[in-house]
Amino acid sequence: MTGNELTDPFGLNERVAVVTGAGSGIGRSTARVLAAAGAFVVCADVNAAAATATAEGIGKTAVAAALDVTDRAAVFALIENTAAEQGRLDILCNIAGIIRTGKVVDVPEEDLDAVLDVNFKGTFHACQAAARIMSAGGGGSIVNTASGAVDTAQPEIMSYSVSKAAVVQLTHNLAAEVGRYGVRVNAVAPGLVRTAMTGRHYLLPDGSIDEAARAAAEKPLRRMSPLGMIGEPEDIAYAVRYLVSDAARFVTGQILRPNGGVAMPW
Ligand SMILES: NC(=O)c1ccc[n+]([C@@H]2O[C@H](COP(=O)([O-])OP(=O)(O)OC[C@H]3O[C@@H](n4cnc5c(N)ncnc54)[C@H](O)[C@@H]3O)[C@@H](O)[C@H]2O)c1
Repeated sequence: MTGNELTDPFGLNERVAVVTGAGSGIGRSTARVLAAAGAFVVCADVNAAAATATAEGIGKTAVAAALDVTDRAAVFALIENTAAEQGRLDILCNIAGIIRTGKVVDVPEEDLDAVLDVNFKGTFHACQAAARIMSAGGGGSIVNTASGAVDTAQPEIMSYSVSKAAVVQLTHNLAAEVGRYGVRVNAVAPGLVRTAMTGRHYLLPDGSIDEAARAAAEKPLRRMSPLGMIGEPEDIAYAVRYLVSDAARFVTGQILRPNGGVAMPW
């Protein structure tokens, strides 16, 4: 008991969190939001400079870690070392992800492997490492990142959709196994969010995003949302913060869909 549950059930004082993909977009925002809620955050990303920028932006309650989530040994080392150095591990947010596009009939096997390696197996490695520690150490909360792609059959993103469907099933299976140890496992399935991943279609020669082109392309997509919205990274980070907090103590094995209402599965 840290006292959060008696004061602010959404508070994360004294909690230790590892966030993957913390160098950009949803991962960076989540690292910031968890830190603002009181957590100590390990900001992990394959892009070491980006992870450092996130951690430095947060201040003394964050550290950066260079981590390729496809490197199983490195994932285990980071998670085990964090628990050993900080004396506890309460929160794991698996947010690192990549996308490759292409028709099913054209997808090169290397693209399928690359997407499954990062999105599914990277999440699996970290889940396995953290769930062992949390199960032995009095509980914890894991949030994985699925996608709205699991709710529809969009063309040309089969590899990505399959990887995220696997993340959903991993979330369900792990939740069923570790609940008895006080470990909760959930996922977010974001709708379209304005990040580098979704801005890659609108890159200018200098590497920045052509925001006017992006806004124009978003118009028909906004109409798909009853709220008329495209998401910002914070819209997902706040959902993650809820799931990892004591406010969600009765919630496990669930897929939370911050998606502007674009999909409303039962
Ligand atoms: N942006 C969206 O619309 C959207 C929608 C649904 C789901 N998602 C998911 O949200 C997550 C974050 O996406 P984003 O939009 O913020 O993307 P982003 O590209 O802005 O950030 C992804 C981060 O993951 C890191 N990363 C990539 N491969 C890695 C690896 N092997 N090891 C460690 N880090 C690695 C990148 O360096 C980057 O910092 C992803 O899992 C993505 O699939 C995004």
